[in-house]
Amino acid sequence: MAALRLPPAFRLVELEQVTSTNDEAKRLAREGAEEGTLVLARTQTAGRGRGGRSWTSAPGNLCFSLLLRPECPPADAAQLSFVAALGVGGALASLMPPLTDVEYKWPNDVLISGRKVAGILLEAEGVTAPQLDWLIVGVGINVKNHPDNVEFPATDMEWETGVTFALEAVLEAFARHFQSWVLRWVEEGFAPVRAAWQARVHGLGEPIRVRLSHETLKGRFAGLDDDGALLLDQGDGGRRRITAGDVFFEDG
Ligand code: BTN
Repeated sequence: MAALRLPPAFRLVELEQVTSTNDEAKRLAREGAEEGTLVLARTQTAGRGRGGRSWTSAPGNLCFSLLLRPECPPADAAQLSFVAALGVGGALASLMPPLTDVEYKWPNDVLISGRKVAGILLEAEGVTAPQLDWLIVGVGINVKNHPDNVEFPATDMEWETGVTFALEAVLEAFARHFQSWVLRWVEEGFAPVRAAWQARVHGLGEPIRVRLSHETLKGRFAGLDDDGALLLDQGDGGRRRITAGDVFFEDG
């Protein structure tokens, strides 16, 4: 990749091919690498998504993992997935034509025109301790290509706009937006993150299905709870808080 201009807080580790940038970032974290280490690879041979799914990692897309050492309880650190989604969404909105419809999907996908353009996978060590040892924020952004035959429809930045994007520009924009949202989160807590995420969320108030590990629930998407849980209204006045699952919209 051509010379990258990342903010000083980031330390770039650029690799040609890895199993998963999250694996590489974890290895570095266990060896004591500093917060801000960002592992970037041209391809992954075993890219991972949420829920044990695989993540297609063709050259031309962005695959990277950022090492963080958040000084807060693990439950609060989990909010960094929303911070990362805002980093991606902010970057895309700043680079793409003005009317591009960038939205979020719970828990941490980024959509364009209702199709998934980016996913985020958080992995951590020390979840039962008062504070995490490390947290890896793995980000995949479909810049130049996207997989077909996936459960939730996917897209990529170039297919949606007909514009060519340099991977360097996308990563630099992410780093800037992510850093400014992290600062805001540290100083003001989750509330502004939640508000910004919810202002651009897909399907608020609409019927959704949420697939949990052993059942699928139906209801209306009522937004984010104060800690990032999904709120599902079930019609009879009942409201469920969901902390892990996959969301599907009635229209797709
Ligand atoms: C999801 O939407 O399921 C999350 C996808 C996360 C993919 C990224 S690509 C870089 C990093 N390395 C991985 O193996 N996964 C994440």
